[in-house]
Amino acid sequence: MKNIYILNGPNLNLLGKRQPEIYGSETLSDIENWLNDLPETESHTITWFQSNHEGDLINRLHEALGNTDGVIINPGALTHYSYALRDAISSVNIPTVEVHLSDIYSREIFRKVSVIKDVCIKQISGKGKLGYLEGLKKLLSVFD
Ligand code: DQA
Repeated sequence: MKNIYILNGPNLNLLGKRQPEIYGSETLSDIENWLNDLPETESHTITWFQSNHEGDLINRLHEALGNTDGVIINPGALTHYSYALRDAISSVNIPTVEVHLSDIYSREIFRKVSVIKDVCIKQISGKGKLGYLEGLKKLLSVFD
């Protein structure tokens, strides 16, 4: 049994309403329920957390220290500039997968840069909610 944190950053609470042509029509709760019901999550503890505040996400990463095996994070726009979040990921040193619903490489230029990519074990972009499942599978493969 593994403890996995799934962290979502700014504006992801608006999924379903926010630019559905880019992010789809499902809410974050829809995605949580979908993943939590899959057989892949059955024997693991998945803790979801969303915040619009950089510091809250960093605090959650600090809380993960010592009790969490892996982290999946979609930091929203913090991806592109938050060195504080990057430092938090490398400080706690818990295997972390970066996930983006949209393809950050086919949008505005500023989205092509991820300052957290290098401190994550994998980056998944443009696969919608399936990215969270792929991220989970990646983490589980690391524990094997
Ligand atoms: C996002 C992509 C980011 O560029 C954007 O700021 C988001 C969502 C994604 O899931 O595609 O808020 O991380």
